[in-house]
Amino acid sequence: MPMTKNSRDRLLEGRRALVTGASSGIGAAVAEDLARAGAAVAVNYHSDRKQAEEVVARIRGAGGQAVALEGDVSKEEAVIGLVEGTVEAFGGIDLLVANSGIQKDAALTEMSLQDWQAVISVNLTGQFLCCREAVRAFRKGPERDGKARGSIVCMSSVHEVIPWAGHVNYAAAKGGVRMMMQTLAQEVAAERIRVNAVAPGAIRTPINEDVWSTKEGREAMLRLIPYGRIGETEDVARVVTWLASDEADYVTGTTLFVDGGMTLHASFIGNG
Ligand code: BGC
Repeated sequence: MPMTKNSRDRLLEGRRALVTGASSGIGAAVAEDLARAGAAVAVNYHSDRKQAEEVVARIRGAGGQAVALEGDVSKEEAVIGLVEGTVEAFGGIDLLVANSGIQKDAALTEMSLQDWQAVISVNLTGQFLCCREAVRAFRKGPERDGKARGSIVCMSSVHEVIPWAGHVNYAAAKGGVRMMMQTLAQEVAAERIRVNAVAPGAIRTPINEDVWSTKEGREAMLRLIPYGRIGETEDVARVVTWLASDEADYVTGTTLFVDGGMTLHASFIGNG
């Protein structure tokens, strides 16, 4: 029987999600898309309370359920608080989208230890802490008739596989996310907990605004994208919703690239 539009739209009915770094960019779009699919969503933010509250207001305005939760994902106590806060708000947690990420770019010899550590702390250690607390909480939740009792989506990047000169902290963190995700997926699969990653390419968000906001930057970016357009946050959000849902129940330990072909080495077109 063909699936009705409605059943596809509500892929996450009754599920409870925490999305980190959800006050802007990809995180905000993910929070809204999960809510559209029926999940109750904890919208984590670090510093921008106002923007997080706007995301919550948009979700509620569309008839969804959401709360804003403050917390720095690189701090253990904060992450424990975020998962507890989600459980308190919604009575449990079934989904984690470990999305928070920052860039502090510099050439190797110009990069301070502080900037190296800041990026590793948020982009890698932050995801470790969120995954650990989520898995602990998933174990307290009910089993679900053979389907995943918990699902984690780690926000990675094409730079989990594409080396990126001038961004060694970021690329090292994302390479780490890839192996962390696969190792966790292997470790918890028997408990019916799925762990996957989504790896966006060039998506129009504040993190790379300095590049896409100028004509030269945009053109240089487009040369790297065979599909011929810069991605939008919704391109990523829709994939996260699917990957988090029971539609992807047999998918674990996988990175799904959402990059318009950026990983296809566009510079080889007509070359090599
Ligand atoms: C980075 C962006 C960059 C994109 C493609 C992302 O992970 O955060 O700044 O534009 O990768 O290089």
